[in-house]
Amino acid sequence: MTECIGDAGRQNGCNTLYSDARFVRYYEMVRAAEREHELMAPYLRKTDQVLDIGCGTGELALSLHRMVRSVLGLDLSSAMIAAAEARRIRIGVGNVTFVQGDMLTMAQNETFDCAILGNAVLSEVADSSSMVSFIRRVHGWLGSDSRLIMTNAVFSPALLCDSCSAGTILDPETGHRISVLYEGNKVDVDSGMWSTTIAFKDARTGQIDRFPFHLNFIYRKELVFLLSLGGFCIEHEAVYQQGAMRLIICRKKELPNL
Ligand SMILES: C[S@@+](CC[C@H](N)C(=O)[O-])C[C@H]1O[C@@H](n2cnc3c(N)ncnc32)[C@H](O)[C@@H]1O
Repeated sequence: MTECIGDAGRQNGCNTLYSDARFVRYYEMVRAAEREHELMAPYLRKTDQVLDIGCGTGELALSLHRMVRSVLGLDLSSAMIAAAEARRIRIGVGNVTFVQGDMLTMAQNETFDCAILGNAVLSEVADSSSMVSFIRRVHGWLGSDSRLIMTNAVFSPALLCDSCSAGTILDPETGHRISVLYEGNKVDVDSGMWSTTIAFKDARTGQIDRFPFHLNFIYRKELVFLLSLGGFCIEHEAVYQQGAMRLIICRKKELPNL
């Protein structure tokens, strides 16, 4: 069963890829190869209780388990959460928990030391005004001396080509190399919506699986403004993977009155 996930996609057709078992499998392969937790290490403490919002297949949450006290991973997609939980059991990690829920509406009684929006989760939110409300919710879930860590909140303009390569992954089951491509990229200037098709091409068989999807394309100056309305300021930034990825560390400040 494929569900429509992510407000941005919902407004522009429907993002079904996060609940499509084929995509979930490819996504796990892509994220397992990435090592952004190493860049986050200086901004995490052993005592931290971390909330990974929109945790997807859980690679990032699980890769943090030795660096912090605990991680709670939250995602709307039950397929993503099932993959994350299966991975957690496989690896044998005890201080990471995954729950299914909607980050835009669910109540959160606990307070955290660090919130993570990994790999463009903010872009799932429908529009700037909803993003501000959401960031303000996250502000309320964090204690006073806390951080918000984001990866790929701002996309590389290199993605805006006709057919761009996003590298290759290795399928551990078949041993085949798979190229990852973004095809037919388009940003609508009025809505700021980025429409693309992610294609996975098996180098051995030539088989291609395509997944259309839509996300909000956030520019850096817009992000700074949204964060300031949400009670955060950027403290540190790093660009990695040949400029394709960006890490942003934010500090919590007083929540402005709107
Ligand atoms: C691009 S993936 C990022 C996954 C993960 N953070 C990572 O670093 O790989 C975006 C994720 O946001 C989730 N998502 C979208 N809308 C959501 C919502 N309203 N509440 C919770 N999760 C949501 C999707 O299901 C998807 O797993």
